[in-house]
Amino acid sequence: MPDRFDLPAGFRWGAATAAYQIEGAVDEDGRGPSVWDTFSARPGAVRDGHTGAVACDHYHRYPEDIALMKDLGLDGYRFSIAWPRVLPTGAGKVNEAGLAFYDRLVDALLEAGITPLPTLFHWDLPQALEDEGGWLNRDTAYRFAEYASVVADRLGDRIPTWITLNEPFVHTVFGYALGTHAPGHTLMFEALPAAHHQLLAHGLAASLLHERGLEVMLSNNLTPVWPASSSPEDAAAAATYDALHNRLFTDPVLLGRYPDLSALGVPDDIFGAVQPGDTDLIHTPGLDGLGLNYYNPTRVAAPSSPDLPFDLVAIPDVPHTAFGWPVVPDALRQLLIGLRELYGNALPPITITENGCSVEETTDPDRPRIDYLATHLDALAQAIAEGVDVRGYYTWSLLDNYEWAEGFHQRFGLVHVDFETQRRTPKASFAWYRNLIAAHRR
Ligand code: FCB
Repeated sequence: MPDRFDLPAGFRWGAATAAYQIEGAVDEDGRGPSVWDTFSARPGAVRDGHTGAVACDHYHRYPEDIALMKDLGLDGYRFSIAWPRVLPTGAGKVNEAGLAFYDRLVDALLEAGITPLPTLFHWDLPQALEDEGGWLNRDTAYRFAEYASVVADRLGDRIPTWITLNEPFVHTVFGYALGTHAPGHTLMFEALPAAHHQLLAHGLAASLLHERGLEVMLSNNLTPVWPASSSPEDAAAAATYDALHNRLFTDPVLLGRYPDLSALGVPDDIFGAVQPGDTDLIHTPGLDGLGLNYYNPTRVAAPSSPDLPFDLVAIPDVPHTAFGWPVVPDALRQLLIGLRELYGNALPPITITENGCSVEETTDPDRPRIDYLATHLDALAQAIAEGVDVRGYYTWSLLDNYEWAEGFHQRFGLVHVDFETQRRTPKASFAWYRNLIAAHRR
């Protein structure tokens, strides 16, 4: 495996986490309940009934975790801010103790020479807002903008760049369409107003962040969509899936319009959610950077039943991660090239805000992770050589953590966490990443 890639000067190296996946301390210092507290308590919702009540206990152990980041030599650390710590009921009275935690975290990061890259929403909506309809309710977008202002007013003096949302596609589809994530709705395509309201929230918050002189990114989960064959039916199904997974979340932000969703049976106004002027609110603030979370490509065939306008089919002859996700590094290069071709000058600089894989705990050393990271960085370097502007790479994840519906079963960390003792043990991939970062500094 190469230990050096041809990357531009100033390329930023990072690692990523999210609040509910690592913090624990769900009842401390005035934090309100989130949809994930409610969902994970529901019998059968999460594998083995695991919850994020303790997770990696990062709320108390953040100094130790920052020492690990410093040892890695990270330029940046992507984390998320728990909305219910800052505003326990989602709106109204600010919880000073919750904000103070992020104040301490940010100061400790800066002290270690690491730039904080916060995400304002990584799926842990305050339960009080869910009780009012959550992201199906347009008001939630306005509550998000208020929350963004509160946090930016407190931390904006020390943090230049902000990510509004994490993966609105995954949150909408798993949380509102299929019900496999919190808040657990099973609305199928009628979930899509939740997507529009998240994008509206992004736009409203982006304007307020820009007013404060801050840069704004949005982290989307994007996937290259491969038709299963050269048949026109498979090509049409692939285009439909591409509109749902990718373009629905990127076109409005970069182009100011939604893609055609008619093949999904979704009307232009997304079941009445889109009001006049909304796409301007989403588009006009502009995006200073596109956050790209990349894990795998998706292969799509013509539908085999009337339930969905596409079938998702296996990708043969490629390795798969412990999670069962196909490993196709060149698909990252294809995705980046495709984005540049599709959006041209409307495409802002890209930062990879997540990329990594889960490896069985018993695989020691975690060679598959090193191979995954190295081959994807190689694909990334090729895309950059082909002219795509990519500024940084944040691997998912610093620590083994709470992997949503999979509980603690999928281990994505560079650092092993024993969830009984909270002992942190850097893996072979940690040393590999540290050497890689150091090699690129020389
Ligand atoms: C992404 C999520 C992140 C983590 C990784 C494995 O979809 O943003 O929280 O779960 O997948």
